[in-house]
Amino acid sequence: MRVGVLTGGGDCPGLNAVIRGIVRRGVQEYDWQFVGIVDGWRGALEDVTVPLDVPSVRGILTHGGTILGASRTNPLRTEDGIARIKRTLDVRGIDALVVVGGEDTLGVAQRLADEGVRLVGVPKTIDNDVGGTDYTFGFDTAVSIATEAIDRLHTTAASHRRALVVEVMGRHSGWIAVHAGVAGGASAILIPERAFDVEQVCGWVLSRFQLRRAPVIVVAEGAVPEAGQLVVRDESRDEYGHVRLSGIGDWLADEIERRTGKQARTTVLGHVQRGGTPTANDRWLATRFGLQAVAAVWDGDFGTMTAVRGTDIVRVPLREALATAKRVPLELYEEFDVFFGT
Ligand code: F6P
Repeated sequence: MRVGVLTGGGDCPGLNAVIRGIVRRGVQEYDWQFVGIVDGWRGALEDVTVPLDVPSVRGILTHGGTILGASRTNPLRTEDGIARIKRTLDVRGIDALVVVGGEDTLGVAQRLADEGVRLVGVPKTIDNDVGGTDYTFGFDTAVSIATEAIDRLHTTAASHRRALVVEVMGRHSGWIAVHAGVAGGASAILIPERAFDVEQVCGWVLSRFQLRRAPVIVVAEGAVPEAGQLVVRDESRDEYGHVRLSGIGDWLADEIERRTGKQARTTVLGHVQRGGTPTANDRWLATRFGLQAVAAVWDGDFGTMTAVRGTDIVRVPLREALATAKRVPLELYEEFDVFFGT
């Protein structure tokens, strides 16, 4: 058996742990061969591959990024994209594929599965918004990084009696904002799932100052003000049609200054949340996903995705996982109202 592996979309801590798990189990248990497809779907389209064997995955468990490279190339936007990918698989003698990606990369995988390509998906994204699984790896690392940043910002906010706004990633879902905001003791948490009232946020800022404490406000990049427009850096879109986010933090800090008369500053955490070494939890989850992906290929259980449910690693139909993205339930979000402005 010859198995291709690719990592697509934005990078994410834990990708190398998945690749290592796949190759170690596939080679050591089944004597399979592996082919690394470079830069996600770009390598599949352009037939750019690298050999993937046990020596090449030694020492990568703790490394951030992906040794295979990643891209946001969308083959469905390229003429004959699917046919070109199938040709690469034929030329390279690849019998099955393991596709590690978020909803966009896995969406392409579903199209290929519909066309008869034998593949298994592995969900990854720091945003934690892929359906069908309780968690994606990368999320825990991003939350740890964001929480540490919030901890640090509390002391500088207090010293200057300023409001500090922390903008975290989260295009459609506020998982990072909620987890890091709660763990970091934020005075307000703003998420894409619930439009916010800027007047109410300013009220929380003032009430926090009245307690002789400085507010730290966590805002997900995809959060929107009520009856407002999404605040974006520019209007350019990637190949999956997503605008480039970031800007809401600066906008909010300006509004806070204007409406409350208090000084406000913004910290945009951006790609810091995706970089560097994965946490132990992410290494654990990513390794188990890699091992499970090999088991799925062995069983011929194609068109599935690895997932974690509770503490079990399971497989779910890829189509089912992609049907609904995982959003922060409002009942969960509302549990933390008690901390806002206090
Ligand atoms: O999809 C994960 C993510 O980290 C989002 O939270 C963020 O909006 C996006 O990637 C950024 O993408 P890029 O690295 O392509 O700018």
